[in-house]
Amino acid sequence: MPERGRFDLNHSGFGEGLAQNLALLHEFGTRDTSRIRGDGLLGVLDNGIVNAEELFIESPEHRGTVFDPFAQASTTPPCRCKVDLVTSEGYSRAMPSPTDAEIFTRWADTEAPLLPILHAFHDRDGFLREEAIHAISEALRTPIADLYGTVTFYHHFSQHAPGQSAPRVCTGPICKLKGADALLDSMRAEGATPMACSGRCDDPVPVLKGRQTLVACDGQMMPWHSPVPAPNPGGLEECVFASIRQPDRATYDGYRRTGGYLGLEKALATDPAAVRQTVSDSGLAGRGGAGFPTGRKWDAVAEDPREPKTIVCNADEGEPGCFKDRTLMDLDPHAVIEGMAIAAHATGATRGFIYLRYEYPETEQILERALEEARASDLLGSQTGFDLWVRRGGGAYICGEETSLLNSLEGKHPFPRNRPPFPVTHGYEDLPTVVNNVETLASVPPILSNGADWYRHLGTGKHAGTKVISLSGDVRRPGNYEVPLGLPLSELLHEWAGGVPDERVIQAVTMAGLSGGFLAREGLDVTLDEPSIRAQGSFLGAGGIMVLDDSRDMVAVAHSAMEFFAHESCGKCFPCRIGTARLTERLDSGGPSSVESWREEVDDIGSTMKATSACGLGMAAPLITESLARWFPDQVETHVNSTNS
Ligand SMILES: Cc1cc2nc3c(=O)[nH]c(=O)nc-3n(C[C@H](O)[C@H](O)[C@H](O)COP(=O)(O)O)c2cc1C
Ligand code: SF4
Repeated sequence: MPERGRFDLNHSGFGEGLAQNLALLHEFGTRDTSRIRGDGLLGVLDNGIVNAEELFIESPEHRGTVFDPFAQASTTPPCRCKVDLVTSEGYSRAMPSPTDAEIFTRWADTEAPLLPILHAFHDRDGFLREEAIHAISEALRTPIADLYGTVTFYHHFSQHAPGQSAPRVCTGPICKLKGADALLDSMRAEGATPMACSGRCDDPVPVLKGRQTLVACDGQMMPWHSPVPAPNPGGLEECVFASIRQPDRATYDGYRRTGGYLGLEKALATDPAAVRQTVSDSGLAGRGGAGFPTGRKWDAVAEDPREPKTIVCNADEGEPGCFKDRTLMDLDPHAVIEGMAIAAHATGATRGFIYLRYEYPETEQILERALEEARASDLLGSQTGFDLWVRRGGGAYICGEETSLLNSLEGKHPFPRNRPPFPVTHGYEDLPTVVNNVETLASVPPILSNGADWYRHLGTGKHAGTKVISLSGDVRRPGNYEVPLGLPLSELLHEWAGGVPDERVIQAVTMAGLSGGFLAREGLDVTLDEPSIRAQGSFLGAGGIMVLDDSRDMVAVAHSAMEFFAHESCGKCFPCRIGTARLTERLDSGGPSSVESWREEVDDIGSTMKATSACGLGMAAPLITESLARWFPDQVETHVNSTNS
């Protein structure tokens, strides 16, 4: 055993010195020693969350030192130490903290290097030091002004302490209803800041700390795992959730035992054009929001002669109220990998990326482990002709938009691109690229295994297949539900999810997360498919539905929604940049003194945004005010009158 300073963690309770020392340990180079709970330390190693009983610091400077976790942090100056955790399962070594040169050697010559390099520095130092940004600019030959512009665009890259060790509290619309503002206030002393919806609307309010997601539970902050989706009450056949409840499904062995990788085997034995035909015949359409037919997208990429081609899995999932992709990746990561490998065979792609939102650190670990297993089983890697890598975003909703995502991967400023040309011909590095959502890709292996007709007939009537709906808010059983397309919304809300608690009634639901605006109680007689919901002036999109009971202030909910869009507008086109800000103001105090002029102004801003915005954010945001004014004229009138009295 190397000589070590010893850091005995058999203490209970929280202490200021202890907290400071743990923050220092973070600086020492653990990926994240995080916190004391009861009589032990919860830490995260590369292989997941562990319960640490003892922790050792290896360091020439501190050889022989006994660290006292209750001592003041200033007595233990920062250094680059290796940190080992001793867990109940034995001894593990956490990552030593890398030097600048080691970071560049590891990443500079890889595909899409900027994001992993930024994260490596951010993880190592807790924030992006000025020297680090200059070193990156030099190493990647990116002009320093461009790099600063890009780095500061992302919400989660800090440039000063406490940086990523400061907690970020989700203040998305549903978390706000669950008391997020009070939780944030209670954590301000620790440097806590708000973050937009972090994709856990079915959980208690989440707090992101370093590379760990915690939730408040019985007065303690606890790690949290994606819950297994509840089975549907009628025992209806599912596609992506069919095997997700099987134990060990997230492991390679468990996945294979439950039918995993049979779709890929079948695909590899089939001509690529026939694979694409099966996907087209199944009726599968994009599950990320736009609903473009998947087979047609793959055809366009396959038919373009230029190479190399790329498969990008869009795992950005930034839409408030959507949390299905996290569940799929956490519980069934091999399904996403298998879907990507099938897409690669079908289109001739040789490389792939999973673009994962920043707010899902545990998911990154799960995906990396699954990728290692797939490579070890010769399903990925140079010998198969296709390999893929995870790239973690920097926290920006607009990076879910596919062209913004591609710019982000390429290390450019993540503005959406003008279209055409589309990514199928001019995607990653201007070459043919498939961009598909997680759920779309996870649907592909069962389609290949069971056939196009099987998938098509999972839907109701003329609607092909299934859709995962993320249901949250004022409903008894929030969570992800895989529904046959065409299922009546009321059946999902009342029979599957138990209806509204506390003897209240539904006042409204949001659609497409927030992007589809509101449907009021009077508009709920719809089925879960695009034509039915579009007939009510909204859309299903990625399938996030938030339920709001009759106690909720709809203007306040609309204000928080528009504030989100204003915050996330990338600013490229001024009608969206200014329009979202003006609409937020109209939902706050001040503004026109009569309801008529309020409506006129709001309609005018909204129609300008819809007509002139370059991407879906600016086109969809006005649905919030439009649907508010349509369904809740009384609440709008009260709002206008009260802000002018
Ligand atoms: C503002 C905005 C945000 C988006 N966010 C996401 C997202 O988080 N995940 C996603 O899959 N698609 C998102 N999309 C849709 C993508 O641009 C793209 O249509 C999708 O990834 C294509 O995959 P699919 O055909 O499998 O749905 C977003 C679009 C817009 C306009
Ligand atoms: S519509 Fe808004 S988010 Fe989209 S490109 Fe324009 S400014 Fe950016």
